Order: sequence, then C-alpha cells, then structure tokens
Amino acid sequence: MTINSFKLLSIFLAPAIAAMSLSACSDEPPKASTNVIPTIEVKVEETEPYIPNLAAGEKLVQNLCSQCHGDKIIPFVQSYPNIKGQKASYILKQLRDFKSDGRQDLYMQSVVKSLSDKDLQDAAEFYSTLKPLDLYNRSKEYSQQ
Ligand code: HEC
Repeated sequence: MTINSFKLLSIFLAPAIAAMSLSACSDEPPKASTNVIPTIEVKVEETEPYIPNLAAGEKLVQNLCSQCHGDKIIPFVQSYPNIKGQKASYILKQLRDFKSDGRQDLYMQSVVKSLSDKDLQDAAEFYSTLKPLDLYNRSKEYSQQ
C-alpha cells in the first residue's frame, strides 16, 4: 500500500468516523430502530359479525328441533322446554354451552354437536321471531279432548 492510497482511504473514512463519533455523543436514540414498522395482526374472520339467515334457521329448526320443541309434543313432555319467542342471545348461549359440554343434556348435546356456530345463530334467531305458545288455551284444548 502506498502513501497515496492510504490518504485516499482516510478521505473516505474520515466523514464516516466523524459521523459515528457524533452520533455516539448525541442523546437521540439510534436512527436504525426507527425504520422498524410495528405490525398489528388483526384476525378479520373473528371480528366480522355474522348476520343470521332466518330462512336457513327455519329449515334447520323444522328438520332438527321441532319434533321436541314444536307445538305438538310440548304439552305432553314437561321436560322439553318451550323456547318459541325466547331472546336469541339467550338461546344462542344455551346452544353454545351444549356444544362445548358446559351445559349437559344428552339430547341437546348430541343434536348440536354436528352444527356450525352459524347454524346455532340461525336457529336461535329464528326461534326468537316465533310467537310464544299460548299454553293456557292449549291446556284447555287438551283437557277437552
Ligand atoms: C330429542 C329432543 C330434542 C331435540 C331434537 C332438540 N332439543 Fe333442545 N332441548 C331438549 C331438552 C330435553 C332440553 C332440556 C335440557 C335440560 O334439561 O337441560 C332442551 C333444551 C334446549 C334449550 C335450552 C332452553 C332453556 O330455556 O334453557 C334450547 C335453546 C334448545 N333446546 C334448542 C334446541 C334447538 C335449536 C334444537 C335443534 C337444533 C333442539 N333444541 C333440538 C330436547 C331436544
């Protein structure tokens, strides 16, 4: 290495060394870290509200639920609850509890096992739109038979 090339090197290195020593003296945080952009993960599927489908709910209820929660059998089987006109969020909570085994009943746990959460929401919403049974007049009808 000749003296000339050493001089050339020092010309290029001098500003860099000056910059490094300057930044070491300053109180500001190192510039490099400001280039890192923080990212926030948002799971869209979980935050998107599902709008219940009443027609799908009606079909599901007719196929799977009304033999036990319909009009005909209720007066006879006292342990089958009357859910027509019940609030949708209450029904939905019960259905989810049955599905997660948090609430136990052999019939209900087996009925909801294969259903999706959308199915449960559709069924709950549909039941909430129905007129509650008039049990008083119903009981009179049955006693006259
Ligand atoms: C084989 C009969 C049977 C079928 C079919 C059935 N259920 Fe039930 N359901 C019951 C019984 C019995 C209970 C009471 C469980 C208990 O005592 O905890 C019940 C409880 C419920 C409850 C809780 C009511 C409350 O007041 O807490 C809801 C909601 C419900 N069923 C909705 C449904 C829906 C929706 C379907 C169709 C997807 C369905 N059930 C199908 C028998 C049935």
